[in-house]
Amino acid sequence: MNPNKALWEKGDFTQIAAFMRQSGEVVAESLGVTPQMKVMDLGSGDGTTALPLARLGADVTGIDIAENLVEAGKKRAEAAGLRNLKFQEGDASNLQGIADHSFDLLLTVFGAMFAPKPFDVASEMVRVTKPGGRIVMGNWIPNDPTFVSQVLKISSAFTPPPPEGFISPMTWGVESNIIERFGKAGVPSEKISMVHDTYYFASPDKGPTDFIDLFEKYYGPTMNALEAAQNTGKAGELHKQLVELANVQNKSRNGGTLIPATFMRVTVSL
Ligand SMILES: C[S@@+](CC[C@H](N)C(=O)[O-])C[C@H]1O[C@@H](n2cnc3c(N)ncnc32)[C@H](O)[C@@H]1O
Repeated sequence: MNPNKALWEKGDFTQIAAFMRQSGEVVAESLGVTPQMKVMDLGSGDGTTALPLARLGADVTGIDIAENLVEAGKKRAEAAGLRNLKFQEGDASNLQGIADHSFDLLLTVFGAMFAPKPFDVASEMVRVTKPGGRIVMGNWIPNDPTFVSQVLKISSAFTPPPPEGFISPMTWGVESNIIERFGKAGVPSEKISMVHDTYYFASPDKGPTDFIDLFEKYYGPTMNALEAAQNTGKAGELHKQLVELANVQNKSRNGGTLIPATFMRVTVSL
């Protein structure tokens, strides 16, 4: 079994994605998408950005490594009556079956960053995007003080070290790596822009403790950390640190959740 696929099929990311819909819409609406534009959403999950892109009229293909999330995306697209949106299984490290220069825009929001072999990922993204097209990536930033970076940092402190040669997904949040990876794929640095942007995890009625419970129950990386912490008797400590983080960072004042998280927004013009 591919460990990358197993990690994302382990839980149910739709439970976390439910907190991401508003910011997903904001990102989709910021891209200047026009009707019939051919768009790939890579690491699409259940369609947080793919659905709003399709509502804007684009012809959207969502690709994800997790079978359960592809199925969840298909159900959401059907329920929304979106015929210009399809979901299929695929691996960002090897987009076999996708022809060269197929898409005007390739969007990947916290998606392709989680695929192994980052140089292959950059090269595949460039290959399937049309000359004159764009790649837009949202990547978490290592050691950033805001939410997701800290969840991953806390979780990794309770998890056994990764196998030798493992490249952390967080390295996609570092400018020099981004330039090197796209450089190897033939893109000069002047074609790459990088800005810090903010994503919000939001719910009107679920508070930060509920949010952390969902991470522990359904988010693969946190589930693994919790299992490891249970084996060493430290599960309580992990839970305490995560709840404290979510409470400190929560901006909602009426029992809900509104947690901002800084990310690196990368735009590559081909
Ligand atoms: C943090 S979730 C983000 C999902 C979605 N983009 C969203 O904003 O709701 C990461 C997604 O990347 C997918 N993913 C991880 N590794 C992948 C790979 N190698 N190829 C394609 N998708 C991958 C996961 O299955 C998961 O759906």
